[in-house]
Amino acid sequence: MIIFCYDGILNSFRRGIDLIMSVIAICCSKGGVGKTFTTLSLAVEFAFLSDKKKRILIIDSDPSRNATIAIVKNLASIKYTLLDVFKDKNFDIKKAIYEGTAEFPSVSVLASHEQLTEIESLLSQRKNQETILKRAIGSLNYDVILIDTPPNNGILTQNALAACDAFLVPVDHDRNAIDGFFSAVNSVEDLCQEGSIDKKPVCLGAVFTKVEENTAITKLMDKTADKEMHGHVVPVRIPKSIHTREAVFYATTIQFQRSHPVCKAYNKLTTYIIKKLNMKGF
Ligand SMILES: Nc1ncnc2c1ncn2[C@@H]1O[C@H](COP(=O)(O)OP(=O)(O)OP(=O)(O)O)[C@@H](O)[C@H]1O
Ligand SMILES: [Mg+2]
Repeated sequence: MIIFCYDGILNSFRRGIDLIMSVIAICCSKGGVGKTFTTLSLAVEFAFLSDKKKRILIIDSDPSRNATIAIVKNLASIKYTLLDVFKDKNFDIKKAIYEGTAEFPSVSVLASHEQLTEIESLLSQRKNQETILKRAIGSLNYDVILIDTPPNNGILTQNALAACDAFLVPVDHDRNAIDGFFSAVNSVEDLCQEGSIDKKPVCLGAVFTKVEENTAITKLMDKTADKEMHGHVVPVRIPKSIHTREAVFYATTIQFQRSHPVCKAYNKLTTYIIKKLNMKGF
């Protein structure tokens, strides 16, 4: 039954499309599933796979600012942020973009702001509030834009979904994954019905993070996912690793350890996305 409602979007999981500038939203209303780590890892992998020739931008739309903190070490240098983009329709979005450090070569970030938590009340009088980001990024010139989102389906996530060409849903490898995935798909469907999205984004699927292989519960979850997620699980899974937690703690990535299983998994995931979206030049 559920599959019929989502058919339009989910069919895009199976087909590839040609894109020039690719905007990919990383979203899941569940907290702590690895959205930010996935966003940072994909950014570094896109840069790596293009020999640092492609221009990569992360838009940090989460008020907790974790992606911003990872990329801009000196937070005092941040003058303008995504908050300015939302508040002032004439604001020059380029002013809120900051270059990455050595760990993030050819990766820039559109900085987030803690006060984005109040965005719903700030925008209450604005028309077309779901498409502010989409209109604002029209003037940008990047090869890949990755949007990190907060753990809810509020206006910031809606803006990310309305602005993207494709969306990826990181989920823990447990039962909550099913809810988390379909909640994102449902949000896209709602935006389409409201007219905020004219072209449905490609659903890249659910990617399992923090997977502990060879346990009974993992095998059970795999069976459940096969049955209930209708084949919309990405065929690359991110293993659980203490090194990932350390990387998050030190606000960095794991990408410099090329042979690390987590790094290898993100490399494969990036290759999978490149193929799925027919992205050129990688
Ligand atoms: N592959 C992994 N192995 C082990 N721990 C991981 C892995 N990926 C992420 N984590 C841990 O999960 C925590 C949450 O990761 P992350 O901040 O990327 O999630 P999130 O979905 O962005 O969270 P939020 O919803 O709060 O924004 C991190 O602190 C990190 O320690
Ligand atoms: Mg996050």
